[in-house]
Amino acid sequence: MNYTEIFPKIIAHCKEHGFIFPSSEIYDGLSAVYDYGQLGAALKRNLRESWWKEMTQLHENIVGIDSAILMHPLVWKASGHIDAFNDPLIDNKDSKKRYRADQLIEDFLDKLLQKSIKETEKKAAKENWSPSDEAYQRFLKGNRDAQKHQVLLAKYTEAMQQNNMEALKNLIDEAGITDPETGSKNWTDIRQFNLMFKTQLGSMAETAQDLYLRPETAQGIFVNFLNVQKSSRLKVPFGIAQVGKSFRNEIVARQFIFRMREFEQMEMQFFIKPGTQHTWFNYWLNARFQWHISLGIEPQKLRFKPHEKLAHYADAATDIEFMFPFGFKELEGVHSRTDFDLSRHQEISGKKMAYFDPDDQTSFIPYVVETSAGLDRTVLTHLCNAYREEEVPTAEAGESALRTVLSFHPEVAPVKIAVFPLVKKDGLPEIATQIASELRKNYSVTYEEKDTIGRRYRRQDAKGTPFCITIDNQTHEDQKVTVRHRDSMLQERVATTQLETFFKNNLSSRKG
Ligand code: GAP
Repeated sequence: MNYTEIFPKIIAHCKEHGFIFPSSEIYDGLSAVYDYGQLGAALKRNLRESWWKEMTQLHENIVGIDSAILMHPLVWKASGHIDAFNDPLIDNKDSKKRYRADQLIEDFLDKLLQKSIKETEKKAAKENWSPSDEAYQRFLKGNRDAQKHQVLLAKYTEAMQQNNMEALKNLIDEAGITDPETGSKNWTDIRQFNLMFKTQLGSMAETAQDLYLRPETAQGIFVNFLNVQKSSRLKVPFGIAQVGKSFRNEIVARQFIFRMREFEQMEMQFFIKPGTQHTWFNYWLNARFQWHISLGIEPQKLRFKPHEKLAHYADAATDIEFMFPFGFKELEGVHSRTDFDLSRHQEISGKKMAYFDPDDQTSFIPYVVETSAGLDRTVLTHLCNAYREEEVPTAEAGESALRTVLSFHPEVAPVKIAVFPLVKKDGLPEIATQIASELRKNYSVTYEEKDTIGRRYRRQDAKGTPFCITIDNQTHEDQKVTVRHRDSMLQERVATTQLETFFKNNLSSRKG
């Protein structure tokens, strides 16, 4: 089975094993809203904690805060979200389906690029060219699809930069972009749609004040910049991190937990001297890439994608994309936000947002480099990266069976260790429960005594548990247990007195 076909299986697996459920399912669900079950919540918490430790504990100049979801409405005026946090929306008149016009065009451009690469590889195989040959590169840039891609990309970039909805619509017509589900070209005009959820503060309709559910956690950091700086006495450069819920009324919310209406972000704003943003931007881009790899994400499934259209606040922006089963898509963004946010808050609130530098006795509004990752997208990344189906030998000679395994990095696996007595007699359950309750003090442990050992292994593989311990009759004699490794399925005998050390060495990405 290829990687693309695996996505529906991952979604079904998440429901069956208690990772993720559709929200309010007994009422037929709520579009693009999901609940985390017992294993999903643990996986998500482990990722959140790993990020928190990486950003705050391991950086002495970064502190973490937890600001409120509801903020003064002028915050969103200052940040530009009221005026500019829009998506271009287009409907197909035949299918009645709604799409984001920019995504339709980007998907089309992506396909053109893929076609041009395939065409080049076909030609190269015939002509015996290698990618470093000039002829290869000339063909790659000069073939029909590559040329078309270049022309359309230039028009797309210009239309997006000028916020020109008419030009975007013309581009859809000119390129002959069709409804991905029905093939129809019968489109409406494009309209702008603000993504913020509105709510009200106060009980009386006449006096109630319009509020918004925050669409990003970043603004809670900006408005607290001086509170944190003065109370912590940190000096620029320093960072403020936070993890929390954000809300966006997404137009097209498909692809499971990839694009949700309620989701969690892990954001860090790094406050720096103006002029140093290029250096810090590269530093954080690289640091964030390395964090994903340190937790077992395959490097070839990650790539950098610089933004073609910069957001209203940025002077540079690059996404870290992961190869999901539905293509390379944004997992995290690193943005150089200049002094846009702090300056705007100073302007709209009338309060000074400048930082006083005690070393050179100057006052200035710091520039900011932001790292912004979606926690739910990180969960989805780990699920897609870990999910495997493979034929494995069974106890019967010459036979094999299919096992589904989630090869999570041990640090993020929801359950770390499963403990089994081989049989439910001979004093084995007593030893097993004793070992389980000792290990439980430090790790998330599960205990099982039902079914054959083979079946118990399969159940733990499906949950992504890295280690299973089996207690058998020999344990009485040698005080050793069998530890089975999830990915290699290799087994080794470990003394019960050595179990703590064994797991200390094997369950963390940061050994020693
Ligand atoms: N403060 C900057 C900011 O919010 P963004 O690129 O709009 O930037 C950052 O969002 C990250 O938040 C994305 O890379 C993605 O991982 C996550 N994210 C954004 N919208 C999301 C949605 N609707 N569902 C799930 N995650 C989302």
